[in-house]
Amino acid sequence: MTERPILFVTRKLPADVETRLMRDYRGVLNDDDVAYGPNDLINESRNCGADAILTCGTEKFTADVIARLPERVKILATFSVGYDHIDIAAAKARGLVVTNTPEVLTDATADITMLCLIGAARQAQNAERILREGRWGRWAAMDMLGVEVTGKRLGIFGMGRIGQAVAQRARGFEMEIHYSNRSRLPAETEKGAIFHADPDEMLPHCDFLSTNCPGSAETRHFVDARRIALLPDGAIVVNTARGSVIDDDALIAALRSGKLAAAGLDVYEGEPDFDKRYLSLSNVFLLPHIGSATVETRNAMGFRALDNLDAWFAGQRPRDQVV
Ligand code: DGY
Repeated sequence: MTERPILFVTRKLPADVETRLMRDYRGVLNDDDVAYGPNDLINESRNCGADAILTCGTEKFTADVIARLPERVKILATFSVGYDHIDIAAAKARGLVVTNTPEVLTDATADITMLCLIGAARQAQNAERILREGRWGRWAAMDMLGVEVTGKRLGIFGMGRIGQAVAQRARGFEMEIHYSNRSRLPAETEKGAIFHADPDEMLPHCDFLSTNCPGSAETRHFVDARRIALLPDGAIVVNTARGSVIDDDALIAALRSGKLAAAGLDVYEGEPDFDKRYLSLSNVFLLPHIGSATVETRNAMGFRALDNLDAWFAGQRPRDQVV
């Protein structure tokens, strides 16, 4: 019988995922969930003799890290749909297989997008704070007024799986869906949503703008001062994709000036660090990157990552091979 491959796991994962991986691999776990920097990733991989690495979006596999990984490591499975933390060109050049976990987190992320959208529109953060701080007085007709979501126009930038799932939910709120995407969707998938080949052309039609694109050099600071100016006054911006999609200076200026009524954010450039000016703005609904954070989804992400590893070690092409 051949020895089970050695799998270096960079973060603590759900118990059922770890149980399965310990059955099928010689897993090297991170029980204390310590944060590994670039040198730790290289040294730990070398010390344990890893054949494969199971990582998360928190570990940065730069070109330098990839070049210094032991030759024995042949596959890097990320427990995430996004792979902007991995230098894909460097992985390709080295012949390192990379897999991700699409599909399984679509619903959870679309749910969080709606939470951010409604939370921002209804200023949920302020209302909740009032209750928690014991400041809830008499009901008042002019207190805690948000803006209506039902029937408004929603622009979705990035109409992949998550964008489409957001559109599906927004239809339940009778929203008029606009979208901009590299390519137009077939009519049966579009379901009446209005396509804009040029995202700038879509922006004036957005009472709400939701960014659901991948993080990349192309989408970096998509929401900048120029594009915010194209939105209607009082629009609301929601970002559950990647922090890099937003130019924080521009968004904060627009939230301060009242050009934008509100924003709902789950992701931040440079997270877990984020622009602390958001904390002093009462018109932002903030979450700490919990888009995929449900028990069901995190298990499914782990199992999907393991399916990809299993396929590769069985000599097959993994279903979610990125490169
Ligand atoms: C992903 O999978 O890319 C998410 O951002 C992690 O929740």
